[in-house]
Amino acid sequence: MQSWVIGNWKQNPATQHAVNTLIDELQEAMSASLAPSCQLMVAPSFIHLAAVAAQLNETDILCGAQDVSAHSASTGAYTGDVSAAQVQDTGAHWTILGHSERRQYHHEDHDTLVQKMNHALHQGLGVIFCIGESQQQYDAKETLDVLDTQLKVIAEVTQNLDDTTVLSEKLIVAYEPVWAIGTGKVPTVVEVSDTHAHIKQTLASYHHALGSTAVLYGGSVNADNAPDFAASDVVDGALVGGASLKAASFLAIAEAFAATKGNK
Ligand code: 13P
Repeated sequence: MQSWVIGNWKQNPATQHAVNTLIDELQEAMSASLAPSCQLMVAPSFIHLAAVAAQLNETDILCGAQDVSAHSASTGAYTGDVSAAQVQDTGAHWTILGHSERRQYHHEDHDTLVQKMNHALHQGLGVIFCIGESQQQYDAKETLDVLDTQLKVIAEVTQNLDDTTVLSEKLIVAYEPVWAIGTGKVPTVVEVSDTHAHIKQTLASYHHALGSTAVLYGGSVNADNAPDFAASDVVDGALVGGASLKAASFLAIAEAFAATKGNK
């Protein structure tokens, strides 16, 4: 079974030089045996996207953006925005959408995310769609209700697609509890597994083609806890923030998933 380990670099690193160093280190240290069982991807910030996509072209590491414009899939008078077509043109073929930091700091809501996902898919980009509950919602045991509401973006996009089978290749869902992001706190593997099983069931209820969607866990994943998450049958990989900024920790996470999933 193939797993996914995706590095969300967020607003890092500060310089092109540091980006080049990270890419060089990743390529030097990456073992050839990783590729069949663990697909790696990195998502740099927009300023570095074209350079990273070019550097990774014809390597085993994919490149994705962290967002696309909601306003237009191609071009237009939208100062500061980057469209799905422009992302595709860099050679990056994926985008993260709906990250909790975008929801929090940019007030991205259901309608905005439907538009973004429609634009991304229209331009042939794959989508890593992020969902997750806040600490307060977790404490109030509202996690599954919150996720159901957030997943309705996928339900709506699916309804309007001519060919839903496309989505099964182009969609990854990342479950990232907001309270676990950058905090060092993680839910138990049993909690994550139950939640992933629910997400998979919900996706399958939208369309049978979505039943095989990869569901990744994100939030304080590191080299130490990755083997525990990888051991769960319903955790198809990891979306990694901080630990993706060092080649050694990022690759150690990937090795953990490759070792476990490669045997299944
Ligand atoms: P951390 O791995 O730094 O907790 O970040 C997770 C995340 O937000 C990835 O999208």
